[in-house]
Amino acid sequence: MDVKKVAVIGGGTMGNGIAHVFAMSGIPVNLIETKQEFADRALSTIEKNLDRMVKKEKINEDKKNATLGSITVFLDVSEGVKDVDLVVEAVPENIDIKRSVWEKVDAAAPDHAILGSNTSSISITKLASMTGRPEKFIGMHFFNPVPVMKLVEIVRGLETDDETYKIVEETSKKLNKVPVPVNDAPGFVSNRVLMPMINEAIFCVGEGVATAENVDEVMKLGMAHPMGPLRLADFIGLDVCLDILNVLYEGFKDPKYRPAPLLVKMVDAGKLGNKTGEGFYNYD
Ligand code: 3HC
Repeated sequence: MDVKKVAVIGGGTMGNGIAHVFAMSGIPVNLIETKQEFADRALSTIEKNLDRMVKKEKINEDKKNATLGSITVFLDVSEGVKDVDLVVEAVPENIDIKRSVWEKVDAAAPDHAILGSNTSSISITKLASMTGRPEKFIGMHFFNPVPVMKLVEIVRGLETDDETYKIVEETSKKLNKVPVPVNDAPGFVSNRVLMPMINEAIFCVGEGVATAENVDEVMKLGMAHPMGPLRLADFIGLDVCLDILNVLYEGFKDPKYRPAPLLVKMVDAGKLGNKTGEGFYNYD
């Protein structure tokens, strides 16, 4: 099966990036949000990122306009998924919100439609069990900023079938991404490796080993990371980092994943990184 139309549910940081790359690859997108103002914000972010690509001469104005023109906004999940071949869900990492969305999708999407989640921390097998088609359920884990990062971690749940995997693998290549298959496990591969590094960097700051700036300098200049781990933690969102560490800690019952006390405190204080204007750095 060729994916001819996709529904992207959620227009936040990840959702608008996912809609951007599908639309730019020529696959029309139904972008589903809960309120018009959220949809407008998503469209304006996509337009801004397309403008950046026009300025860098990666695409021309025609391509920008065609990309924007192939995104249609829906404020109702059932309406937005009824004529698509693939659904990619990028709603907040809250199990009750996800359940409510997946129940609606399962009831309204065509029988042949593949159901993909961009979750960074919730078990694909668990999400799949919220639908009547676990064999068609799969993780499509994109990375921020989606238009730039090449990876799609494709996560197979316990019951995901080979055909679903193949279609999602092919579709990811059409987006000019590199699909990497992994099996369902806490944090998959990406966050199981990334989050302990970020956590350890936070321990270093909390224990007074070095300042946030100096920890980041060590990793940027010594290990050639494009961003230091603390700047990256701010970029991802400290609340998201904490949620993922808790999933690792609870999933493996291994103390090596315990969240750094400083991370917990910063989340309690509402210092969540770029999105709140303050984390390890200030973003005024
Ligand atoms: N849309 C389109 N293009 C964008 C963009 C966006 N949102 N953001 C940046 N770009 C482009 C720029 O135009 C620029 O293009 P060029 O190479 O043609 O000049 C290029 O990306 C680099 O951007 P900048 O020059 O503005 O800035 P930097 O060189 O500092 O790069 C960065 C910014 C790409 C964010 C880089 O710092 C980076 O790669 N950081 C690491 C990001 C990362 O690790 N992401 C993964 C997070 S984990 C995750 O998402 C998983 C989740 O589960 C937690």
